[in-house]
Amino acid sequence: MYVAASILSADFGRLNDEINAVCDAGADLIHIDVMDGHFVPNLTIGPCVLNAIQKAAKVPLDVHLMVEDVDFFIDLFLPLKPKFLSFHIERATHPLRLIEKIRKAGINPAIVLNPHTNLNTLEYILSELDMVLLMSVNPGFGGQKFITSALEKIANLREMIDKSGAKCLIEVDGGITGANIAEIELAGADVVVAGSFIFGSQSYTQAIKALKI
Ligand code: DX5
Ligand code: ZN
Repeated sequence: MYVAASILSADFGRLNDEINAVCDAGADLIHIDVMDGHFVPNLTIGPCVLNAIQKAAKVPLDVHLMVEDVDFFIDLFLPLKPKFLSFHIERATHPLRLIEKIRKAGINPAIVLNPHTNLNTLEYILSELDMVLLMSVNPGFGGQKFITSALEKIANLREMIDKSGAKCLIEVDGGITGANIAEIELAGADVVVAGSFIFGSQSYTQAIKALKI
């Protein structure tokens, strides 16, 4: 299991130290939640802060765009070259065009599905993707409760990917803790995003270790 530490729950006043700490604690990726105040009722970070995070991080960045204007934000973040750049299928008019644009920039494209969004939206896109991010909370905030119907969705996506032969990782985001990681792993996830569980713990190393099962 790969662990992506979501800096949304970090102490932003000590962002540099927090990034160093999670990298040293064993995080595989740093997950960056970009929110525009429209698609989700919260505002977070833009390219200037991302640039600073990139300088501090010793592991690759995983950028999750939660925005209305997907095209605009992809163009804004593309020059920063994170490892993964993911956008919500609910706001993409021409997802295949966006996937191609991201890949041409040397970045791994990923698509995000809200908890209520059906997996069949991925049917003709799966083979073009490096990762699918399944939301297990309604996007916008850290520290929310895991929506248990996500487990069935993870298992169904696992089956879809295995049947199709696509080389696509399954990432799960929201409400992930040491208490539910076993079920999430069993359902077929490859990467988990965790924010409050890591940053709210006494030991980042122990928290990340608990997720790497
Ligand atoms: C929610 C974000 C998540 C969030 C996860 O909209 O996409 O990445 O930071 O936080 P936790 O792990 O606290 O649910
Ligand atoms: Zn996220």
